[in-house]
Amino acid sequence: MNKIFIDACFGKKTPYTPIWIMRQAGRYLPEYMEVRAKAGNFLNLCHAPEMACEVTLQPVERLGVDAAILFSDILVVPNEMGMELEFIKGFGPKFPKPLETREEIEALDMNGAEKLTYVYETIKKVRAKLADDKALIGFTGSPWTLATYMIEGQGTKTYALVKKKIYQDPEFMHLLLCKLTEVVKEYLSKQIEAGADAVQIFDSWAAALEEDAFFEFSWKYMVEIAQYIKEKYPHVPVLLFPKGIAGYLDKIYGNFDVFCVDWATPIELAKEKLGDKYVIQGNMEPTRLYSQEATKEGVEHILNVMGSKRHIFNLGHGMLPDLKPENAKYLVDLVHDLSKNS
Ligand code: CP3
Repeated sequence: MNKIFIDACFGKKTPYTPIWIMRQAGRYLPEYMEVRAKAGNFLNLCHAPEMACEVTLQPVERLGVDAAILFSDILVVPNEMGMELEFIKGFGPKFPKPLETREEIEALDMNGAEKLTYVYETIKKVRAKLADDKALIGFTGSPWTLATYMIEGQGTKTYALVKKKIYQDPEFMHLLLCKLTEVVKEYLSKQIEAGADAVQIFDSWAAALEEDAFFEFSWKYMVEIAQYIKEKYPHVPVLLFPKGIAGYLDKIYGNFDVFCVDWATPIELAKEKLGDKYVIQGNMEPTRLYSQEATKEGVEHILNVMGSKRHIFNLGHGMLPDLKPENAKYLVDLVHDLSKNS
């Protein structure tokens, strides 16, 4: 059976515009909170395939989205490369011992992808239970975004530590980015072998970099990974999400299928600059979801611009935790209804 999300990724005509939502599994769903409580904490949940499978499927059942996204986190990769990781309530992720020296980079475990068996187990379970016409999206963080966390140790407003490395010791950065690129290639391959139908690379901290630095320290590595996956698995769509780089769209290049657009980039601009070459995913402002009226206005605008062609609907970043599930359901139904046969 055809998966409408996969057809859309390859630019094929579909009966309506498919939609999934970044962070569609998570705290806004009471059924997620129940499973997380059973698991004890977020990381335990990522490590437990049976429960991770259950929360991956929850938004498909509740919202009727066209794709499930693997329930996990980008930071399990550095964790399995040997960095201790904590998720602190009300604060977010933290690496208590961030990377400082080349010796610490050299000591990272290059078998990280082999150790992520719980992720592959989750994928196998989800694929066995998911309807044939729904896609399962695997994912990873980009080398740059992972490296940022590994050097800063936590979220940051200034990126001072990691950017200092870029300008004072670029070879340190490239050593780390090359290692991450190799592990991520293996990680995505193993996700695909386990049953992921498509893969998305999240570059959440792309906007920290000025133009030349973005292409040298982030985009180059994302494109290398995409090229590797496209050669090995041409039937698997690759989606790239560099967040916040509206100013650099003219210089985007590479062998991948879907360009994911953040909410601050006008969809008209993304379509004009990249719509002939790539399918576009995105990009409603996530906080519109607090109001059904604002949601309708956002959906109508985006669908009018994209004309139900070469487009996958999504938010321009993740869903917020205090959102009402019925508003997310309203969005999914609205996108399906308004894009049908248009
Ligand atoms: O989208 C999905 O539903 C799939 C699961 C998913 C999670 N994280 C679950 C999660 C995905 C694709 C991610 C990716 C991720 N993780 C990114 C890239 C996308 C983005 O948001 O920019 C980043 C930067 C991270 C790192 C991360 N993980 C942060 C900054 C946080 C804390 C912020 C927050 O929302 O609390 C997490 C924790 C996290 N990852 C949660 C979930 C559901 C919340 C944990 C909880 O249940 O308390």
